[in-house]
Amino acid sequence: MLMSDRMLLKVIVLGDSGVGKTSLMNQYVYNKFNKQYKATIGADFVTKELHIDEKLVTLQIWDTAGQERFHSLGVAFYRGADCCILVYDVNIQKTFETLQTWHQEFLKQADPSEPESFPFVLLGNKVDTDGGSSRAVSEKTAREWCALKGNIPYYETSAKENYNVDDAFLCVAKTALANE
Ligand code: GTP
Ligand code: MG
Repeated sequence: MLMSDRMLLKVIVLGDSGVGKTSLMNQYVYNKFNKQYKATIGADFVTKELHIDEKLVTLQIWDTAGQERFHSLGVAFYRGADCCILVYDVNIQKTFETLQTWHQEFLKQADPSEPESFPFVLLGNKVDTDGGSSRAVSEKTAREWCALKGNIPYYETSAKENYNVDDAFLCVAKTALANE
């Protein structure tokens, strides 16, 4: 969307409860990490400005609730999205399996004109707790899923250690821009 000479990109973050959606966003925008879990209720957004190829881009990042009982988002919420970030926890298999549902649900609600080429980015979060024994989903498995979905970019992240977070969101911005 064009705002005078600026670009506003609407980004929606989806994924199971507890995978670290809020934490990733807080690390990216405020450089803060909180060990305490506080469930997100409904949805809220934060913004971050960045320069890409001499363009000033405003990312409007919508954090959503992973917990079913807090889902209250209508179709209007998804409409106009420029990118969807899917997040799972590399240590919990179930959060990887439900990506399918989040992916489908997004396309159903947002109903983009070209669903095959709609920009998604997948984040495998909490790689810091990967001591070799806790890891449940391999990078290879995640990348295979991304390939099946039309080559979705994939990043392994840690909101806790601030690992790959900036890179991941930069990719989100670029991917969304490229689709404008
Ligand atoms: P909902 O709002 O319920 O959908 O959850 P969420 O996806 O927003 O998860 P949230 O960011 O609240 O994080 C859940 C818990 O995981 C919190 O206790 C965080 O501190 C922790 N957490 C988030 N990211 C990381 C990470 O990268 N590494 C580790 N070790 N813990 C993390
Ligand atoms: Mg949250």
